[in-house]
Amino acid sequence: MARFTNRGIVRAAIALGGAALLAAACQAPKTEEQATEQKPEQDLVTASALVGLPVGTAPADLPDSSSEAAQTYAKFCSACHGIPNPSSHSATDWPVVLRRMWLRTEGLPAGYTVPVPDQRERLLIQDYVLAHALKVTNAELPAVPGRALFESTCSRCHELPDPRQHAPQDWAAVVIRMRQHMVQILHQSPPQSQVQEIILFLEQASKAGA
Ligand code: HEC
Ligand code: HEC
Repeated sequence: MARFTNRGIVRAAIALGGAALLAAACQAPKTEEQATEQKPEQDLVTASALVGLPVGTAPADLPDSSSEAAQTYAKFCSACHGIPNPSSHSATDWPVVLRRMWLRTEGLPAGYTVPVPDQRERLLIQDYVLAHALKVTNAELPAVPGRALFESTCSRCHELPDPRQHAPQDWAAVVIRMRQHMVQILHQSPPQSQVQEIILFLEQASKAGA
């Protein structure tokens, strides 16, 4: 499959958020009968990569967007999917994710041309994401309702965030954005009652720590 087509599929799938679409784009048009057949293994592998593809950030919305670091980051991290926000992982997790991305970048078969960063560019990218990483804490969380739900829901894609990094009144908007990420990345999201419980917890916990 041509390199352009492959990238096109991933992008289209991100835009429309559906594994079914990815499968459809990946293969020649099918009759309805064929469409119900079991998908080949290769298809399953490609489709499974959709669970976890980062949500894209516009280059201008990156922190320090005009810096060399931000531009290097945007150049090398936009080849296969949208540019991930540096706050999507904690400083502990980023090095592991980056190592996986270097492997993906270097290990592509001939014909898939993706820019491969040199050692200096890799360090620049790593320093950049570490500087703007998600803030986590080891501090004890207050024992108010919603704590367990917060812990299980908000540690699925990244480490558990520090409730004190936002003022109480700002948490609702963040949680609603996270719910959209859950729909896009995990193709599922918690019911409204649970979302509300987490927001209430964060409003309490951010006050408690301040
Ligand atoms: C060669 C293609 C390719 C390039 C280049 C690439 N990625 Fe990825 N990325 C993938 C694929 C495939 C997945 C889904 C599978 C996975 O998570 O390993 C992914 C998933 C991710 C995820 C979501 C999964 C997670 O662990 O949170 C993040 C974040 C991410 N990439 C960050 C980056 C960053 C940062 C860069 C630039 C250093 C980058 N990617 C460059 C292919 C790529
Ligand atoms: C489906 C994956 C996913 C889940 C689950 C998730 N997040 Fe996130 N989180 C992200 C991504 C992607 C980013 C970076 C992009 C952004 O900030 O929107 C992020 C960034 C953040 C940030 C840093 C950015 C900011 O605005 O401060 C905070 C804080 C955060 N998440 C809190 C939460 C909370 C609270 C929950 C539980 C309700 C949660 N996350 C659940 C994917 C997720």
